Parts: sequence; C-alpha cells; structure tokens
Amino acid sequence: MTGAVAGLVLSLGMIAPPVMAAAPEGYDINSASSLQVVVNKHRQLNPAAYVPASLVRVQGERLRSQAADAYKQFAKAAKAAGVNVMPISGYRSYSEQASLYDSYVRQYGQATADTIAARPGYSEHQTGLAMDIGNASGTCALQACFANTPAGQWAAVHGWEYGFIIRYPAGAGATTGYTYEPWHLRYVGRAIAEDMQIKKIATLEDYFSLEAAPDYLP
Ligand code: DAL
Ligand code: ZN
Repeated sequence: MTGAVAGLVLSLGMIAPPVMAAAPEGYDINSASSLQVVVNKHRQLNPAAYVPASLVRVQGERLRSQAADAYKQFAKAAKAAGVNVMPISGYRSYSEQASLYDSYVRQYGQATADTIAARPGYSEHQTGLAMDIGNASGTCALQACFANTPAGQWAAVHGWEYGFIIRYPAGAGATTGYTYEPWHLRYVGRAIAEDMQIKKIATLEDYFSLEAAPDYLP
C-alpha cells in the first residue's frame, strides 16, 4: 500500500489507529477529598461547599498536608537553585471563591470572568490542592508572562518532580475552560505528574479520558 493510500484508509477509519493507553486505574477522581479529584466546569465539587478536613499553613497560605509537604520541597529546591518562589493563593473556601469570582464579573463581565476564575464549588483552590505561585520580586504576578520568569520556569521544568502539574496550560482552553495560568500548580502526586510528563499529556481531562469542559453545563 502506498503512503497516500494508507493515509486515506486511516482517515476513512478502516484501520483503527492504536488506542492511547488509558490512564492507570485505581485513582479516585470523584471524591472531593481525593488527592486526584478532577474538578472542572462539568465536575462540581461534591458537596459544592466542601471544606477539607485539615489544612496546614504554608507561608500565610493553606494547603492539604500532602500538597503542603510537596510545595515546601518544591520551593526549597528552587531556592537552592537561586529561584525565590512565593505562594500567592492556596486554599480558598466556597465563599472566598464566590467573592473572587464576583469581583471578576464586576470588573470584566461574566464571559471573561469564566475564563479566568472558577465559580464557587468548581475551583481546585477549594480542594486545598492548588497553589498559585509568584516570584518574590512580584514580576508578572498572575500574568501569562510569569511563564518566562525564574519561578515560572522552575515550575514548568521541575513541578512534576514534586507532584505538581500546570493545570491550565497554554492553548488548552477548549479542554480546561481557562486561559493559560502558568502560576496555578495543582498537586496530583508524583506518579501522575511524572506519567503525564512522560506521555506528554497536558490536561487532567485528557489524562483521565474525560470530556472537555470549556463551559458550564446549562
Ligand atoms: N483561576 C482558577 C481557574 C480558579 O479560580 O480556580
Ligand atoms: Zn489558581
């Protein structure tokens, strides 16, 4: 078969392309308290007003203990390499998320607000597993240019080693529902973070073969 014919046969679906290996089973992506919970615009926390059983302090912010331990290791290694990473926003309660979201709606309107902040009950920050980070200098805080700063580069290159992923990658808005947030680290554990790195899978939706969640369901 010539290459052109093979391509045509493939495009007609007569030969099934190899199926991508599914994400390893055994992870609980549904329970709000699971370290692997997947939260997006189609997957509200259950209960919506979920509060983690315990949170620990990390430089003025709060995280679940496993995420806090990983974050401290991450920041310590960064510092040893001369990069000063600062926590900006960790755990946010349902009502704190509501205030944040409402302030964005007032500032930018709802359509834009929905691309930059989650509605209450739909934020990873409410799980205690997400941390927004910045540079100690404040350069490019919560802006896309953060990706080109020392802390942004450190996160992109080394985050997975500590179990973190950049949850809202560039160009993945059609899947995640959010614009690029190079500062938003989500703790998923080293096994998944490393596996996503190896398989070059950018989003949790793709990793767990979930539907894309660009918008809220009607
Ligand atoms: N900025 C992210 C999407 C949040 O509000 O959880
Ligand atoms: Zn965030």
